[in-house]
Amino acid sequence: MEKSAKLGTNKTGVDTSPIHSKEMASGAKQYTPATGREQDLNAMRRAAIEDAERLGSVPIPGTAKGMLKSMMEKFTGNQPAIFVNKLGERLAFERAGTRVYEAMILKAEVANAQGELPFQIPIDRLQHFHREEGEHFQLLIDCMEKLGVDPTAQTPDADVSALAGSGMMKVISDPRTTFPQCMEAMLGLELTDNAAWELLVTLAEDLGQDDMARQFKKALSEEETHVREIREWYEKCVRSQASGATH
Ligand SMILES: [Fe+2]
Repeated sequence: MEKSAKLGTNKTGVDTSPIHSKEMASGAKQYTPATGREQDLNAMRRAAIEDAERLGSVPIPGTAKGMLKSMMEKFTGNQPAIFVNKLGERLAFERAGTRVYEAMILKAEVANAQGELPFQIPIDRLQHFHREEGEHFQLLIDCMEKLGVDPTAQTPDADVSALAGSGMMKVISDPRTTFPQCMEAMLGLELTDNAAWELLVTLAEDLGQDDMARQFKKALSEEETHVREIREWYEKCVRSQASGATH
């Protein structure tokens, strides 16, 4: 089955049909609303932003116990709540990360079997990364439990980061996407993940959680390997296609 995009079959541009393109341009002018301007739309958006409620709340129990209690006594303000919010965010991301790698492994198996690329994708490395995402997920569960926070609760930033990553997840799980296209989405996810682990290390250090900071640094160094290798493979995939070595 021919899978690669053929040149000359794309009809999305205006050059495909100059006559229809002219009609489309004149139609766009004709049906542009005479009233209502960009400023009006912005005013409406501004009002909506000002009135909006926030996305959920951080699940800190009213009667915080143990580590979280002493942390909340020691650090005034929102610092402990922000930490919990970010722990929950990473937890959700790493859990999703294991699912993403499962989808990538499947894509890689099919790509290898069909010879989509002029080289074999190292599936054992993807399996290794998959395992590490699972370990990071478990680490975050342990940290939240140690603090006395329910790790199954969805924090506001977990919600937002899931939404932000959902487009990349769709790319990877779409049966039509090629392995290189999936790798680009994967690179986006891993770059975000890397920056987030760096921040988590800093937040743990700010709160004097040296044990957690040390464990997060280990996770960060593993994530740095993920991002480096994914980036290298992605470049290799794209360049191998550019050289015409496939299909
Ligand atoms: Fe990763």
